[in-house]
Amino acid sequence: MYPSILSFPEGFLWGTATASHQVEGGNTNNDWYLWEQQPGRIRNGDRAGTACDWWNRAEEDFDRARELGQNTHRLSLEWSRLEPRPGEWDTSAFARYRQVLAGLRQRHLEPMVTLFHFTLPIWVAERGGWMNPETISLFSRYVEHVVRELGDLVTLWCTINEPVVYAYQGYLRGIWPPGRQSFPEAVRVLRHLLLAHGEAYRLIHALQGEAQVGLVKNMMYVEPWRPDSWLDRKWAGFMNRLYNELSLIAVTEGRFLPPLGRATVPKLIDSIDFLGVNYYTRALFGVDKRRWMNSLNPRLNTAGIISDYEYGEVFPEGLYRILKHVQRCGKPIYITENGLPDADDDLRPYFILTHLQQVWRAIQEGVPVRGYYHWSLLDNFEWSEGYRMRFGLIEVDFATQRRRVRRSGRLYAEICQTNAITPELVERYAPEAMEAVFGARLPSAVKEMG
Ligand code: FCB
Repeated sequence: MYPSILSFPEGFLWGTATASHQVEGGNTNNDWYLWEQQPGRIRNGDRAGTACDWWNRAEEDFDRARELGQNTHRLSLEWSRLEPRPGEWDTSAFARYRQVLAGLRQRHLEPMVTLFHFTLPIWVAERGGWMNPETISLFSRYVEHVVRELGDLVTLWCTINEPVVYAYQGYLRGIWPPGRQSFPEAVRVLRHLLLAHGEAYRLIHALQGEAQVGLVKNMMYVEPWRPDSWLDRKWAGFMNRLYNELSLIAVTEGRFLPPLGRATVPKLIDSIDFLGVNYYTRALFGVDKRRWMNSLNPRLNTAGIISDYEYGEVFPEGLYRILKHVQRCGKPIYITENGLPDADDDLRPYFILTHLQQVWRAIQEGVPVRGYYHWSLLDNFEWSEGYRMRFGLIEVDFATQRRRVRRSGRLYAEICQTNAITPELVERYAPEAMEAVFGARLPSAVKEMG
């Protein structure tokens, strides 16, 4: 027996996510700006540049989001704009963000605001960035200002976006600023990010009673590369712990476990009101004895469906398993990012339908998922990959700033508007997803059988 319609809970939040540096344009006062000026750092020598020009025209895209039936949007604030120099607050930047957040509200798009999404003011980076424990208090001071100035417009706060990804890319792989390759440094940075989360959590609640504060955690669905290898199984277990588990234990139980150290951190105990889950792919880990660093890099299941430039495997079931797993946090869950690079949009409809089916399945089994944010509303600056990876429901021509809604954008709109997925919708947008979404028998076949 298969349901004939997948309905989502009343009041479910449907939206998309973006981040300041990836969409705003004109951010020349952060560490990414400097990084982009260094030859060889960004694919094809791209620079964020004007990006989607949101500093000037975010509202036009909010109109589009609204027309596409969305009722929420997740964005981030750019610290380097708000505090361009230590202790100096830029009133015009605060005013612009007020406008932006009020603009969301006017369009009935509930704002979800991320306080740190990968970019640091140059002056903070120069003092050592997240390697320096002083950054924790600098971040708190910034958070305090933000909540005092903008808190009346925001209830959903995300402290830190993907602390492990940040530490991994910037301090282990070295492909993001500051380009370090050191395990101890990566661990230290992760520890500081988690401590900063704890401080921010307490602070926001002290200032704003009704705030809902979460951490955004990238979760990879981890499996051993060679399942019959004992070593790979052990190693995948270790990587899962390192990659997925340690931060969750830290923000729920308030415990740092090796290699984060061994300590109880009272400020971190029960320090999330919700968990933000970013899910993109399944990752296979195995030991490479010849090139040790390779063991730290996730591999893709090449037999699976792979998105543009081998970004990831399309593995919807992984989202379900992760949701079931994180249910133990005992907190509401938002899927704060989920998406894929797919310039010609031939996979995205399938991706959206099959992932949402897994979300629905988890909800049926009692997982308290409250909302879903697709990454992303529109194509944007994809960090070291520059502009070649296209994650948008809306296509952007960066030479002209012209927008074109992709088919998947219209599909997503129908889901947002009806709060449901029907076989008819699947048939129209991605019949190849019918089996995955509604089971083996096509509705037409069912009809024929009488
Ligand atoms: C996530 C980031 C986000 C975006 C997507 C594709 O790891 O949080 O900024 O780059 O990946």
